[in-house]
Amino acid sequence: MPKLYLKTYGCQMNEYDSSKMAAVLAASHGYTVTDDPDNADLLLLNTCSVREKAQEKVFSELGRWKAWKAARPGRMVGVGGCVASQEGTAIIGRAPIVDLIFGPQTLHRLPELLQQARATGRPAVDIRFPEIEKFDCLPEPRAKGPTAFVSVMEGCSKYCSFCIVPYTRGEEVSRPLVDVLAEVHKLAAQGVREVTLLGQNVNAYRGATPDGEAADLALLIACAARIDGIGRVRFTTSHPAEFTDALIDAFRDEPKLAGYLHLPVQSGSDRILGMMKRGYTCAGYLDRIRRLREARPGIGLSSDFIVGFPGESDEDFEQTMALIERARFDQAYSFIYSPRPGTPAARLRDSVPTETKQARLARLQARIRDFGAEYAGALVGTAQRVLLEKPSLKNRGWLAGKTECNRWVNLPAPAAGAQRLIGRFAAVEITEALTNSLRGRLLRVENL
Ligand code: SAM
Ligand code: F3S
Repeated sequence: MPKLYLKTYGCQMNEYDSSKMAAVLAASHGYTVTDDPDNADLLLLNTCSVREKAQEKVFSELGRWKAWKAARPGRMVGVGGCVASQEGTAIIGRAPIVDLIFGPQTLHRLPELLQQARATGRPAVDIRFPEIEKFDCLPEPRAKGPTAFVSVMEGCSKYCSFCIVPYTRGEEVSRPLVDVLAEVHKLAAQGVREVTLLGQNVNAYRGATPDGEAADLALLIACAARIDGIGRVRFTTSHPAEFTDALIDAFRDEPKLAGYLHLPVQSGSDRILGMMKRGYTCAGYLDRIRRLREARPGIGLSSDFIVGFPGESDEDFEQTMALIERARFDQAYSFIYSPRPGTPAARLRDSVPTETKQARLARLQARIRDFGAEYAGALVGTAQRVLLEKPSLKNRGWLAGKTECNRWVNLPAPAAGAQRLIGRFAAVEITEALTNSLRGRLLRVENL
């Protein structure tokens, strides 16, 4: 059996795509995935180009694989994902060890590319965006535990001025409603209890229905929640400009929709939001959050921030800090702005000194940590619905699961049958809030 070593960078879409790369090559050539590169015949890097650092990492990484490739004849190296899409054949110029170059929309063509590279002895490249073809060519989904990602759309058509994604993943294309539901159904039949519906801009989902209409994300959530065995639905990532009333209603009306939302805001300054071409104002964003919290009290809320966007003044940054005070996010991903070649913002003069950017980032992250600790502290003493996912990594005989608000909880498992509880929802009393996780006590296991 040939062996595949797979390294994934970046977002959940890339994680999903990596699992599909493994599935495609297992079906076509019998590849099995290995954790040990020394055993591997094929190395695939699924790359991210959202920030320069992530992109540069790929080239330094490729440098390190030269000796690995030379150590055994026939070994091959492939580069997929957003760097492949962005750079194309230029990758070979910088890293001649590469045999395969494929984009996020052409990973289903890996078997053919592999054959082609072997037959010709030359690199095989396909970085096109052939609409939704990929999904029709993938093998049946295979569950790996009680949670699963399901990609519902590809690409992004928002063209935020700083972002490379629309250029590397193409325009938005939604999968038909029935196709997505069939995938959820197959996963549920294999024991999946929680699905995360994925898209770069998932609330722009408009999936064709059999009667020629278009289903939105709220309808998709409602349908997925009705599939036998599915006890929880999540979705990510949303864009605030398209965060519709129907989605707010879904948080009020659909108990299986997890009480957690990742809603990237990027900045609290309307001037910067305008320059980023985000299509909403700070007040509009806060209004949506207010209505969301009315619809689902206690909802966990996280966001993305970019600090040091070109021309971001102290005043702009103070407005971001003020927004954080009002929104009280309990988690966030925050980044220093990284100019991406070919995006409109890359042409702006980057006037903010590096030390200022770093100081702003540290201040922002510290404040979010405060709110995160406060949020976690308030969970102590409450009963949370937890999906028990796996044995706890740190404590033998304990289980680990996630709350609706997307926090890990570790809890002692009953003496007999801990394994039997994996994949079950349980009421868990939160007993302690640690820095990165919670501890709890099993109250009751839900009936299947
Ligand atoms: N679809 C999401 C949204 O609604 O904003 C974002 C997807 S993007 C791939 C993930 C995050 O990376 C963004 O929210 C942003 O904070 C960050 N990001 C994107 N481009 C960036 C850049 N040029 N520099 C720094 N951070 C960036
Ligand atoms: Fe990027 Fe904006 Fe789309 S951040 S992924 S262009 S919503």
